[in-house]
Amino acid sequence: MTWWWQCMGTAVRHAVLEQARNRLALTLVVFFIPLWLTLAYRVLPGDPVRFFLRAAGRPVNLDANTVTQLSGGLHAIALIVGFMMFLAASRSAEFDHRLVLAGYPRLCLLLARSGVLLLTAALTAGYATAWVCVFHRPERLDVMAGAFMVGALTYGGVGILLAALLRSELAGMFVVIMVSFIDLGLQNPVANPAADSPLLRLMPAYGAMQAAVSAVDLTLVPWRHLLLGLGWSAGLTVAGLAAFTARTSRRTLKQTLLRRHASRSSVRLTVLRLLHPLRARMYRQAGIRDATVITGYEICRRLLHRSGPVKAATTKLLPARIRPVWWAVYGYGRYIDDLSDTRHGSRRERSEHVSRFSELLEADLRQGHSQDPLRAAIVHAIWTWDLPGDGLEAANAVYRQDAEGESALATWDDWFAYWRTLTFPFGTKRLLNLLTAPGLAFTPRDAEALRAWTDALNLLDTLRDLREDAMEGFVKLPATVLDEYGVSSEDLARGRASGRYTDMVRAMTARTRQWLDRTAAAGSQHPPMAAALRTVVDLHRLELDRIDQSPHALLNGPSRAHPVRFHLTLARGRHRVARAWRHHARTAARTPASIPPPRSAEGDPTPHDTQALLPPVPHPSGVRPPVLPPGRMPQHVAVIMDGNGRWATHRGRPRTAGHEAGQLALRDVVHGALEIGLPCLSLYAFSTENWTRPATEVEALLRIFQDGLDMETEEIWQRDIRLRWSGIPDGMPSEMVQTARRTEHATRNRTALTLNMCLNYGGRAEITHAARALARQAAAGTMDPDTITPRHVAAHLHQPGLPEVDLLIRTGGEMRTSNFLPWQSTYAELVFLDTLWPDVDRTHLWQAIDTYTRRDRRFGAVQPSPGAPQAPGSVDGL
Ligand code: IPE
Ligand code: IPE
Ligand code: MG
Repeated sequence: MTWWWQCMGTAVRHAVLEQARNRLALTLVVFFIPLWLTLAYRVLPGDPVRFFLRAAGRPVNLDANTVTQLSGGLHAIALIVGFMMFLAASRSAEFDHRLVLAGYPRLCLLLARSGVLLLTAALTAGYATAWVCVFHRPERLDVMAGAFMVGALTYGGVGILLAALLRSELAGMFVVIMVSFIDLGLQNPVANPAADSPLLRLMPAYGAMQAAVSAVDLTLVPWRHLLLGLGWSAGLTVAGLAAFTARTSRRTLKQTLLRRHASRSSVRLTVLRLLHPLRARMYRQAGIRDATVITGYEICRRLLHRSGPVKAATTKLLPARIRPVWWAVYGYGRYIDDLSDTRHGSRRERSEHVSRFSELLEADLRQGHSQDPLRAAIVHAIWTWDLPGDGLEAANAVYRQDAEGESALATWDDWFAYWRTLTFPFGTKRLLNLLTAPGLAFTPRDAEALRAWTDALNLLDTLRDLREDAMEGFVKLPATVLDEYGVSSEDLARGRASGRYTDMVRAMTARTRQWLDRTAAAGSQHPPMAAALRTVVDLHRLELDRIDQSPHALLNGPSRAHPVRFHLTLARGRHRVARAWRHHARTAARTPASIPPPRSAEGDPTPHDTQALLPPVPHPSGVRPPVLPPGRMPQHVAVIMDGNGRWATHRGRPRTAGHEAGQLALRDVVHGALEIGLPCLSLYAFSTENWTRPATEVEALLRIFQDGLDMETEEIWQRDIRLRWSGIPDGMPSEMVQTARRTEHATRNRTALTLNMCLNYGGRAEITHAARALARQAAAGTMDPDTITPRHVAAHLHQPGLPEVDLLIRTGGEMRTSNFLPWQSTYAELVFLDTLWPDVDRTHLWQAIDTYTRRDRRFGAVQPSPGAPQAPGSVDGL
């Protein structure tokens, strides 16, 4: 019985929230009803109208303005309540379906929906009656309120019925408007002298209108007419609820979703603009205009909302400009998870659905767009926000395994591997970077906190869905945990607690709390992120409190946090986050960007690289680096390694031989940079324009780079060198991207030389990327375009922590810079060498540095800058 009441509580809460969220309808109730009642009463003349009132069985004389006020009031109520119930019933169908699947009795949902209809009707009727009293005092207040309520109930029933019959929200709205227009327009004796015609007695609002008019002057209670209205209302509501029951039957969620995707995007867009102008504006500001893509984001948003209140709340704590990314990321996971849902279809079918979806998505990703709204949104998010997306394949493989019923988690290691593959396909770091703004930096600790939070979220999800997962045959806890506490998954599926079930649940909540404690420590450099994470952690803790109070409740379905506390915590958190962003916007407008320190690749907690590092290998000739005048050492040397092809051609060999020889030169130059104590060396290895070369050459180059980046095959990584990669992942093999990131990560704490490999790099692409990031901030209102300075742009380059280039060397005899580090090299000294790259060694580097030390660097001034030939404000020095 307790379970039944809990279900009822959830269903009522959801139904009430659904109405409360419909801000347009609430605004209409509050403002439109009084406006209409006032205008009808004041503007129309008070001339008497003769009217045969069937409720009294005789003609009556009433003022024209009073009658019009009543029929108008009824009309307004009918429209608003009909519309509210229509939207609530059509939008919550998926959520209700989910509840039914989770074992919620359908009766609860029906009662909740009917209860909310009654409540809405009563409140609206009471409100309208109170406003009527402002103008005149009806003889029977109770009858007037009853008449309005009957009208509201009737049209609420119309709304519920239409929601079951019509797909399009626009169509639903239109039908409610037209039906009420005909019905109530004809009931008004001022507009229609034949308002008592027998035909009109068959109209839905007839009983309500008769009762309302009789309440003005007569003392009788027109029971027959009130009951007639109630009859209409009951009939329509029952028909609507019957259709609603049919909709929440065993039809698969997947089918519902697929059909939704097929519905026409542009209609949805119009509805969105009408009903949610703020959201429509958010899309406009984010530069999202394509109707299909917006429809996709909306589907993702709904999928996220179906994933529970905490996840939906998480999005509300993010700046509006990046909410769509979050929706897409969740939408992808949720959709494919539903496809692999082991309770629908045969194994083969499920697996085929997942494979098909993955293939289509991967093909769309290559093209950069999709015809299907959901995939279009995912592709749009990955392309627009530069999400890596290279973990998708691994995640898809896990979902396929789920679909085939072959997933099993033996240990905690398996558990981490499983969830992290599913949770991180889009790259935590990139998602974090979306929140970066000038002056707001992330530290590796934040990335770690985010990871801890994701683990906590996943474990909480596992607990929340314990019974449902068990019924699907895959409890997502390590088998060792179930064994340790003697809990059987068959019993869980039957809703029975076996073994030390309570201890197990409490141990899992304790573990989740530990991870949440780690999360709470994040965001020290980023106050909005700290406020958001603190709120999410508080929300999770509320849910954990609930689970700890009654672990057995999990066997009956998800345990939700206490609703009042939940919403209070969320409201407080939203306020804190908004305040933190506002404060930042104010201070960021005044202070220049502080450049974040070099960030780690993924924020793994491993503190230090434990490998013993080797010193640089001396030059074979024994030559030593030159002694430079003190303080004249460049901080950053960039090299365009050109001439490999010509070197090979001169020797009658294929160009690829030149690239291989070039690798030896590269190694020697790096050893030379270490020997001379150079802090930063950028090497141009492959430009975004080099893809136009013959496929065999590109392939050979990629193979060489793959080996060169790999710590297992390349000896250079045994020295004290920190790798940074500048470039874009697009087009690069995912294995190579991963290798680069791995090596970046493994070498992140090294201090001698920062080696910035410019691979798949293009200067224009880099600046465009920065421009986009700033434009997004400007569009979102977190940055005033007039306050953007070069430092803000510099903060969004691929490697914002590196100093500006002091010396740019190009080998191979060409005198151009070929799209290499245009932003960073504006004041670089240029040295062009005729030597082809494979013939270069460290002595060329030293020689060029020696030349550099003798150059006058004036930076636009008349006198050379005193002391060192360095940029006056290198990026690092901010
Ligand atoms: C530079 O050498 C290496 C890369 C572009 C990868 P080239 O291959 O451009 O050599 P040349 O300029 O044709 O001699
Ligand atoms: C520049 O060399 C790119 C690299 C060295 C990686 P290119 O050989 O591609 O440049 P252009 O085409 O001669 O300008
Ligand atoms: Mg070249």
